[in-house]
Amino acid sequence: MKTINLNSIRDEKGELCAIEAGRSIPFDIKRVYYIFGNTNNLPRGFHAHKKLNQAAFCISGSCHINFDDLKEQKKVFLDSPNKIVLIPPLVWHEMHNFSSDCILVVLANDIYDEDDYIRDFEEFKLFIKNQND
Ligand code: TYD
Repeated sequence: MKTINLNSIRDEKGELCAIEAGRSIPFDIKRVYYIFGNTNNLPRGFHAHKKLNQAAFCISGSCHINFDDLKEQKKVFLDSPNKIVLIPPLVWHEMHNFSSDCILVVLANDIYDEDDYIRDFEEFKLFIKNQND
């Protein structure tokens, strides 16, 4: 799972970061959603997408995202508004360790479609196996 460090334009008035579709991230953005107020620090995610490409970053606070594509497991700590992780299709992902001020922003290349989700890990393994057969 690739991470991108955005350059920020910094001066005495603070920092400015821009995310440009097709430049900073490798897809066009059709949807933006954000997760906040997880003050109970309950884990989220526990799914993979069949086709959706996403990019995630914490505009405030921090959280971990654990990834598993059945070849490799990776844990990414999102702790800066400059740090973006790309979430390609067919990667199981789980979000953990939400700070109480965490606002996790997700950019996606398509609108919400429940049929694109795989929410069961056994089903995910079967889906990948069928793709490789
Ligand atoms: P879900 O993707 O399951 O969140 P998480 O994996 O972080 O727990 O989404 C939670 C609920 O919100 C689910 O009922 C689907 C709905 N939802 C939308 O309506 N639109 C969206 O863009 C997203 C991401 C979720």
